[in-house]
Amino acid sequence: MTDLSTSWLGLDLRGPLVVGASPMADDADLARRLVDAGAGAIVMRSLFEEQLVAEELALHRYFDHSVDTNAEARSFLPATDAAASGSGPYLAQLGRLRDAVDVPVVASLNGTTAGGWTRHAIELEDAGASAVELNLYEVATQLDETGAEVEARQLEVVQAVVDAIDVPVAVKLSPFYASVPSFVARIAITGAAGVVMFNRFYQPDVDLETLDVDRTLVLSTPAELPLRLHALALLHSRLGLSLASSGGVHHGTDAAKAILCGADAVQLVSALLPDPVNRLTRIAGELHTWLDEQGYRDLGEARGATSFGNVADPAAWERLNYSRILQGWRPR
Ligand SMILES: Cc1cc2nc3c(=O)[nH]c(=O)nc-3n(C[C@H](O)[C@H](O)[C@H](O)COP(=O)(O)O)c2cc1C
Repeated sequence: MTDLSTSWLGLDLRGPLVVGASPMADDADLARRLVDAGAGAIVMRSLFEEQLVAEELALHRYFDHSVDTNAEARSFLPATDAAASGSGPYLAQLGRLRDAVDVPVVASLNGTTAGGWTRHAIELEDAGASAVELNLYEVATQLDETGAEVEARQLEVVQAVVDAIDVPVAVKLSPFYASVPSFVARIAITGAAGVVMFNRFYQPDVDLETLDVDRTLVLSTPAELPLRLHALALLHSRLGLSLASSGGVHHGTDAAKAILCGADAVQLVSALLPDPVNRLTRIAGELHTWLDEQGYRDLGEARGATSFGNVADPAAWERLNYSRILQGWRPR
């Protein structure tokens, strides 16, 4: 049997399949059953900077109002109200997950400005997060902020979080950079432990009935996997960063492809959501069977076997492939 143990962000995982950031970790019992079914780690949904800032502003307004109306009111204020608002419920859930499972629990922060909210990263570390995944999801909408400025701002956020905590930081990226490899190389300089490729852009659609914007969240399909495979293959063993895939893994063979291209861990969300434990059991079984059949003794043997540096024709991962694909197309 192939030994599935792997190291991700310096954490020892018993297997590469990781429950990606999603509501699945809102239920500690479900998380425990997912670990029994083969999850090597659990990533919590993101704590959103804008949500934290909005809640803190509301709390301040409430306190300020109370203080104004009664001079003695300040003495009635609780020392902190963090337990009920802001990151409080999230930290409580992190504690429940730590008690429920014996695998790494990764907290996730979504931040786009390097602000005081990075103290929440410290709270996550203090509450026992094994690592923090920094979700850089944002959609550029400003006409006057250049791509270089967006990247510089995001790198500042990464640096602030890396500097604030001692546990490993993983950076979850969108695929939309002019040069993903160069951006990831600059992430490596911040001291982050790894990258997760990629988040999905939730494209709003137009509803022709209501002439409104339709924000339905559509789950992924395996068609989204090749974008991840390409990025993994290009970056494998080039920057000393842990690599995780996120997006489009629905079968054990999809996970095998991600590992062959260089993934240390393979995150799953859409494939699991409809029936989490049964789906993970199936996918873990398929992956194990495939690796066994190929005769791999451990994941290290398989990891990166089809990466840029290891294939006979690395140019196939590069632009050369583009012209060949276009020119080689024939009607079926
Ligand atoms: C319902 C739902 C909630 C999600 N919540 C988060 C989140 O809070 N933070 C985050 O970084 N990604 C979140 N994601 C994105 C997933 O973690 C993952 O990156 C994406 O769905 C692609 O992986 P998949 O193809 O396995 O679904 C969410 C996805 C779904 C479907």
